[in-house]
Formats: sequence, C-alpha cells, structure tokens
Amino acid sequence: MRGVKFLKIIVVMDDATSGSGDLIAQHGASFFLEISNGEEIRNILVDVGQSSGMLFHNMERLCLSPEMVDIIVLTHCHYDHTGDLAEVVRAVGKRDLPVVAHPTLFRPHFAYRPCLRHIGVPYGNGPAEVEAAGGKLLLSTAPVPLLEGVTVLGEVPRITDFEEPGVNAVTSLDDKLVEDPLEDDTALAVYIEGQGVVVVTGCSHSGVINILRYSLELFPGMPLDGVLGGFHLIKADDRRIEKTVSAMADLKPRWVAAGHCTGFNAQVALRNRFKEAFEPLFVGKTMTVSTP
Ligand SMILES: [Fe+2]
Ligand SMILES: [Fe+2]
Repeated sequence: MRGVKFLKIIVVMDDATSGSGDLIAQHGASFFLEISNGEEIRNILVDVGQSSGMLFHNMERLCLSPEMVDIIVLTHCHYDHTGDLAEVVRAVGKRDLPVVAHPTLFRPHFAYRPCLRHIGVPYGNGPAEVEAAGGKLLLSTAPVPLLEGVTVLGEVPRITDFEEPGVNAVTSLDDKLVEDPLEDDTALAVYIEGQGVVVVTGCSHSGVINILRYSLELFPGMPLDGVLGGFHLIKADDRRIEKTVSAMADLKPRWVAAGHCTGFNAQVALRNRFKEAFEPLFVGKTMTVSTP
C-alpha cells in the first residue's frame, strides 16, 4: 500500500498555549498539516478554530500563511471548529479550494442547556458564502482520499458500547426536533510508509476508539503510529475514561497527543497509561513523522 513519506502537524489553535511566546489560545481547534509523498507537498488545514483573527495571528507567528493552504477539512459543525470559515477560505485566495466535510455540516445544531443557542456553523458561513469566497464544497459520508495514503474518514461507524457524542444538542429532521447524534463527526488518517497510521481528530464526538478502529480498517494491516486532537472526554466519568484509555492502549500507539476538549481527568489518565508517549496539546506544538 502506498503512503506518504513525511507528515508535519502544527497546532495553530487549541484551548491551551505553552505559556511562553505571544501565541493566542481560544476554545477550539485548528491543525496545519504539511504532507509530502516525496514528489509533492500538500498543506491541509484541519478545522479553522472559532476566530479568523486569532487563527491568522497564530499562523503568522508560526511562519504560516493562509495562502499556503491547499485543502480545508472540517471535522464537524461546531462553531469552535468552523467559525469564520468563509473568511479563512477568502484568505487562502484560491478558486475551487477543496473544503471537505459531511453533507449535514450546515444543519441547524442547537444546544439547549442552559438555554437554546446555535452551536453549529456560525451565521455568514453557509455553503453559498463559502463558495463565494472561493471554496468548493466536497460533502461526503464516504471516505474522501486527499492524496494516496491520506483520507478523510467520512461517517465513522459507531461500534463501541462505551462511547457517545458527549454533547446535548438538537437538530430538526423531517419537521421534528430530534437529539443530534453528530453524525458529521469525522477525522483524518495519514499512512506514513514504513511507520504507520497517524489519526488527527477534531472533537471525537464519534468516539475516539471508533475513529481509531475505523482508520485502521481503511489501512488494513498497518499499525497505529499516533493520534492527535480532541477526544471529548471533558464530561466523561472515570469508568468511560478508563475504558477509552485501555482500548487505546490495545491499539498500541507509539504516541498520543490530546488537548482541546479532552479534559484534565482524561489527560491525567492518558499520561499515567502512556507515560512519556503522551503529550498535551497547545498552540504552537509541532509533531513530525517520517518514513524511517
Ligand atoms: Fe470542539
Ligand atoms: Fe465539537
């Protein structure tokens, strides 16, 4: 199976900073991926955080610019991953910039505690605005290959009996208000030749273990190298955290990097289990994986 030779992940937005420098943290996530197959380099922006001003500030300090982006992937609808999407697409400044997401991304998505408020793709960032800014939407429930060895998962089968989306929100379906299962929640898998599969998640509302297992199904026989992103265990009880951590350990990742909505308790449990192989995320953190 063909994969890529080199992957660099730079955290351009997260809920935390390293505590030094002038990078800005804001609730949300955005990861800049530089991927090379030995012949070509592709830069993929996974999620765009919630404020383009802060995103661009961090990118500039990290010697990145929106014009470098070749593809945008949106892991799910939440405002802290899709905020100012149209502005980001405009700043990239390309025609027909691929913007990959699930077909239900732009649905109404309302939290109802403590009161009703929209927490999906924010106003002014609908399909028409994104396409007017230069984006070309590629909405799919099936996996979307971005280059050989790099795949957006599409809809993730929910197999585990201990994972759930972790968000109380509603949407409208057939003129009825229904609990929103966040079917759009996806992730990106990158197979690095001779090394293994790296998985980049947004919030893991599909369940991080479901995401990891499905990623490995898409690259049969390949080992898991590492996983980076939000695991959305912030409100999970100790039982669920323990089940998640031990199921993750069964997959034998070489490294685990978790932040955003992972939550302090889950970060502690991951650190206890994976020791130095666990690292918390923060803005500016950079990971590289390459073919040996
Ligand atoms: Fe989030
Ligand atoms: Fe989320």
